[in-house]
Order: sequence, then structure tokens, then C-alpha cells
Amino acid sequence: MRICLLGCAGFIGSHLVEWLLNNSDAEITGTDIDDQKVRHLLGHPRLTYLHSDIRSEVEVTDRLIAECDVLVDLIAVASPTLYVRNPLEVFELDFMENIKIIEKCSAMGKRLIQFSTCEIYGRTWLSLVPDELMTPEARSQADVTMRESQTNMIVGPIEKSRWIYSVSKQLLERVIHAHGQDRGLDYAAIRPFNFVGPRIDFLPSERNNDDSPRVVAHFMNALLYGTDMKLVDGGQALRCYTYIDDAVECIGRITLDTTGRTSRQAFNIGNPENECSVEELAHTMLRIYKEKFWDGQTVLPRIISVPGAEFYGEGYEDCDRRVPDVSKARELIGWEPKWSLDALLTETMGAFVADFKARNATLAAQAVLTASSAGGSDSTNPQPGAATL
Ligand code: UGA
Repeated sequence: MRICLLGCAGFIGSHLVEWLLNNSDAEITGTDIDDQKVRHLLGHPRLTYLHSDIRSEVEVTDRLIAECDVLVDLIAVASPTLYVRNPLEVFELDFMENIKIIEKCSAMGKRLIQFSTCEIYGRTWLSLVPDELMTPEARSQADVTMRESQTNMIVGPIEKSRWIYSVSKQLLERVIHAHGQDRGLDYAAIRPFNFVGPRIDFLPSERNNDDSPRVVAHFMNALLYGTDMKLVDGGQALRCYTYIDDAVECIGRITLDTTGRTSRQAFNIGNPENECSVEELAHTMLRIYKEKFWDGQTVLPRIISVPGAEFYGEGYEDCDRRVPDVSKARELIGWEPKWSLDALLTETMGAFVADFKARNATLAAQAVLTASSAGGSDSTNPQPGAATL
């Protein structure tokens, strides 16, 4: 099987490439605009990596689609900060560029694995029901599980630009479905539910740009740099965190499927057992950090609440809760997520801590080098051995 992954060097793509190399004999071609997250895989005999931007190198993308059996489309920005601050960029990349790929796969008769999002479900119906219309008991027993072919999609007003990502991806899935229905496109749409793992996101203290990572990287930043852990609007939103190894096991099996079982289907991929509020997440990460990684001396973060409009910008609104029904993945490909919340956080936090230590060691070595060469270039104050550095 020849598999092409567009956007192979993001968080999910880098783990998926690794899984496919380890669990199949497929020939893999991957493209991206930065190879950092797949650098450890370059040189593998069945992986060809191309530095290519789908926005400008249309002929390259066309050729890769023509040459592959299965096309995996991972091209997207998926950061709530960008939905609020750069909504047009989100639409242009996540919808306009993706639609071209879908049309080509449809015209060329290629199987398409399209990355969508759990965010297409938007808010739960329960979040719209006023307190006075429902008893607390009925509320606590209400079924808000998100089911691929049954659940309605609920988003906020246009001025709340957070939803542009949700509706861009929703329309993309609707168009893919129509291509399947009218023109026989063979596709699977993947709806990730808060995947977490090594390489997920950058630490904001180490990057000087407009973007902001997802919550686990924000909290890790606070733990490592002693800044505040900020709970947006009190941190009452609920998420189901899913370990990346569980996730790519499922996506990999769908990608390799040749039975037709997974054709023209959307899949929720998430771990319904790992539901917690953002506030609980902060306390859990603080506990694990203290138990496993803290040196007993550095300043530990405070946990504080901040308004969403201050943290993200005026166009922010939140998804209140996302619980996936994963029975389709279970029944069609025998998949079951295995990683508990504690285990996946420990593993992910360990990777952040290791990167942090390696970075600090590199910075310290560079500082020594700089100090030494500055001393060496000062002819009035020669340092012994400086010339050899
Ligand atoms: C994002 C994307 O929009 C989804 O498409 C994607 O599927 C999802 O990440 C994912 O990782 O799978 P979201 O869960 O809202 O969705 O992203 P986060 O940035 O991780 O935020 C999670 C929750 O934490 C939100 O309620 C947010 O307000 C809160 N948060 C975030 C904080 O309380 N503090 C922070 O420092 C950062």
C-alpha cells in the first residue's frame, strides 16, 4: 500500500507515521513545512519526506495524490486562539485548501482519510436548557454522548468567531459525504477528542508568537516556569483526554483497512473514561508533577481563574462538554482505548520535562561557549583553552 500523509509532521501526523512504519509494510510519503517532529524517522527506508506547502506547491500535491493508494489529510490549524484572532486564516486553510484535496481524491478515485474534529458537535443540547426548566437530578442523568450519525451540531452566533473552525470542518465533512454519495468517494472522517502525548505543543514561554498552545502545554509551562495555571472562566468545561498511542492505533487501522468496513464513515476517536474538568486537570497535573518531577525547590504555580475574553479575545466561547460514543470504532475495527488519565498525563509530562532539561542543558552549553569565545577574542585577557572552543 502506498500512503501519502499531507501535514505529516504535526503532533498527530508524526505519531501516525511512526505507527504505520512499525505496524505495516506500507510505503509512506509525507509532506510538511517543518520536519522537526519527524526528524527521528527520516532515513527510514519506507519513508519519503518532502518539504512542501500545499498552498503554493499544487503540482507536487497533485502528483502525490495520483501516486498513492490512500491519502491522509492532516492539514489544519487547531488552536482556539487562532480561531478567535485569525478566523479567516482558519477558514482558508482548514476549508478552502482542504476542499481542493477532497475534489482531487474524488476525481482520481483515491481513498481519503480526512481529519475532522470533535469540535464539529459544538456545545451540548444540555448547555442550552435553563436551570429553571430542569431539576439538578435530571441534568446529572441527561445523555450528552456525541454519536457520529445522530448528534445535532450546535454552535454560537457569527460574532463568536471561535466557531469558524467547527463549521469549516463540519462543511468539509458534509462535502465529503456528498462526494461519497454522488461520486463514490471512499473516505473515513476522523474526529479526534483531545489527544495528548509527547510533541503535542510548544511551551508559550519558549516561543514569541501570536499563537497559544492547548491546555496541557499551558499547564506544563506553568509547572516548569512557575507561572500561574489559568482556568479559563473557572475551568468548568469538561473534556475526555485520549492518549496519542491509543489514537494512532485506531487511525492506523482505519488507514490500512481494505475490507470496505470503514468506508464512508465518520469516527469518534476518544476515551470516554477519561472525562475531567479543566480545573480537575490542573489539580491532577500539579499532583503528578509534585509526586514525580518536582525537585522540591522551584516555585509551584498558583491556580487562578481568568475570563475567556481576556485569555483568548472577545470572540471566545467554549464547548461545555465532549463525551465520545466510540462504539463504531469498537464494532468495526475492534478498537478500545487503554490509557488512563493519570498514565497518559504522567507519560506526556515526562516528555515535556525531558525536553525542558535538554533545552536548558543546550542553553547552558551555549552560554559557556559564548562566554569562552568572548574571552578568547579579548586579546587583553586571553583565556586558557578558549581558542579550542
Ligand atoms: C481544541 C481544538 O479546538 C479541537 O479541535 C481539538 O480537537 C482539541 O483542541 C484537541 O486537542 O483535540 P479545546 O479542547 O477547546 O479544543 O482546546 P484546549 O486549548 O486544550 O482547551 C481546553 C479547555 O481548557 C477549554 O475549556 C479552555 O478554555 C481551557 N483552558 C485552556 C484553560 O482553562 N487554561 C488554559 O491555559 C488553556
